[in-house]
Amino acid sequence: MITKLTIDRIMEATDIVEVIGEFVQLKKRGANYVGLSPFSNERTPSFTVSPAKGIFKDFSSGKGGSAVTFLMELEKFSYPEALKWLAKKYSIEVEETVESTENKEEENHRESLMIVSGYAAKFFHESLLETQEGQNIGLSYFKERGFSNETIRKFELGYSPDQWEAFTSKALKEGYQQQFLEETGLSVKRDNGTLYDRYRGRVMFPIHSFTGRVIAFGGRTLKNDKNVPKYVNSPESEIYHKSNILYGLYFAKKAIRDEDNCYLVEGYADVLSVHQAGIENVVASSGTSLTVEQIRLIGRFTKNVTILYDGDAAGIKASLRGLDMILEEGLNVKVVLFPDGHDPDSYVRLVGTNAFKTHIDQNRKDFILYKTDILLKEAGNDPIRRADVIREIVESIAKIPDSIKASVFIRECSHQLEIDERALLSELNKMRLSKARKEAQQNTRTIEPSDYLPPDELPQELPVKKEDSSQEREIVRLLLLYGNKMIDWDGIANTYIGPFMIAELTDVEFEHEASKKFVNQYAKEVENGILPDEQFFIHFADKDIVDLTVTLLATKYTLSDNWYEMHKILVPDEQVNMKATILGAIFHLKKQKVGKILDGLRTELQKAEGEADTEILLTQYMHMKKVEKSISDYLGSVILK
Ligand code: UTP
Ligand code: MN
Repeated sequence: MITKLTIDRIMEATDIVEVIGEFVQLKKRGANYVGLSPFSNERTPSFTVSPAKGIFKDFSSGKGGSAVTFLMELEKFSYPEALKWLAKKYSIEVEETVESTENKEEENHRESLMIVSGYAAKFFHESLLETQEGQNIGLSYFKERGFSNETIRKFELGYSPDQWEAFTSKALKEGYQQQFLEETGLSVKRDNGTLYDRYRGRVMFPIHSFTGRVIAFGGRTLKNDKNVPKYVNSPESEIYHKSNILYGLYFAKKAIRDEDNCYLVEGYADVLSVHQAGIENVVASSGTSLTVEQIRLIGRFTKNVTILYDGDAAGIKASLRGLDMILEEGLNVKVVLFPDGHDPDSYVRLVGTNAFKTHIDQNRKDFILYKTDILLKEAGNDPIRRADVIREIVESIAKIPDSIKASVFIRECSHQLEIDERALLSELNKMRLSKARKEAQQNTRTIEPSDYLPPDELPQELPVKKEDSSQEREIVRLLLLYGNKMIDWDGIANTYIGPFMIAELTDVEFEHEASKKFVNQYAKEVENGILPDEQFFIHFADKDIVDLTVTLLATKYTLSDNWYEMHKILVPDEQVNMKATILGAIFHLKKQKVGKILDGLRTELQKAEGEADTEILLTQYMHMKKVEKSISDYLGSVILK
């Protein structure tokens, strides 16, 4: 865990405008800054940053929080990852404490694997640049392929010496453990238990996680021997799940967001060449056919994917079906073909950057129209095969979740297929309907909580109704705004509002999840003698708490106006009659809870059998009624006075 001291230092150094400014163009407006939301496609800026409070609020997506939350939302960092990013930016040394929980062990394990991988990347990179063998063999190969020094450095390309143990023995000597060398696949175990290098004599492409750490490698042979696999890749490990990784994403993500488009290519070499040509929003699925996880990964950054294909017809046909998956995830897919025999890498080297870009712009085709084209050409004039094509195309269109978009495609394809638009539409609707039915069936089967919860964990009550949570949120709001302020009880005594409220609320069970967490946290701090303020909660590690805090700070009053009207409080006056505000909120919540208990008792009374039961229930009911009345009286006297 990162130490409290480090977190404090990071928070102190962090300038939220500066941090967010790296991702969003901000303009000053009054005390705040505004810009276009990076979380949605908007034309008028609704994204606001308050440097004074150290928070942002995005009114179009509803997201909000601190600089840390921002990084977590946008870059998909975990909490510690976001902190470390900030620490790096502000050159703050990160201190971490070791915890001996199981979780921590797993974390340590992953960390060890990453450290070994990072070390290996450095070793291979240095071998490439600084050894005779590396320069003669690896570096000259990369140069011949046209990779610049900058590309080689940026992507940390490397060379693994053509010896059995060059890397392994060095790593062991430096104290890296055998276990981690094996698990990362950097070394392979012989029958006698000793290790040898996996990538002997190969040029190395490190694969980075999207926070930029090396997690795996691809090693390319330099031999022309058909019996040697061209690439040897890292095996799956705790840090490397092939299906979740896109090669180049770390270097591409900023450009993907800026350009609102992601180019998808096949190989390592394609990523490097296209990136080097100045088109930085490019990634590869390297070695696997595209997975849903990879598509979703792209979908976090943009909804537009452009596939750059080599012109090999067989390959194209094989991948057509796979691309439907991208449509299904709601992304827009375009396709660019290259002349026969060329892949993006060879083509950009052949024609140069400018002509390459022109080619992309002029040959970008929508995937569905392109697919229609290919299938039609193949079917020729055979009517039966043409009918199959129609069905297959409508099947693809039916996968598009946005029905407006789908109907636009229907129109365009009806021209291409020379078939009436209505016929296509009715086919589309049929498919949609059967899909919806299927999903509905699946849902009724899976949505039963009893299917996955053991009986004693089944929810006992219906989820809290929406209007119910406003009472609890009002408490949170008051704690946030006034918890560390004093209240004067008619000149008799002074108390801090926070601890007073917490004490008053010990017997109240909060139901709204985030409010409950908040109040529990507040109570914990109070117990430790701390009066937490806004900033404490804005920078809190729990996302629910941060969300709630920012929402409450951004929208001033949560209780319905109705409530204030009922009690004749003018909202801006709440500070004038602090006592009424605080007690009002507490007793109002209590009254609501009592109301619920009464509801429950009433239902039980209706079902009760036997006099004894009824008697007990009635007694309880009368008692609660009294409590309710006294609360009402109290509310009346305090508030209406
Ligand atoms: P390519 O053969 O197109 O690779 O395979 P490339 O990166 O363009 O390499 P060059 O241009 O020949 O140097 C596409 C991708 O498929 C995976 C690799 O990820 C490669 O980048 N692949 C290919 C393997 O994993 N193993 C192989 O044996 C071949
Ligand atoms: Mn290639």
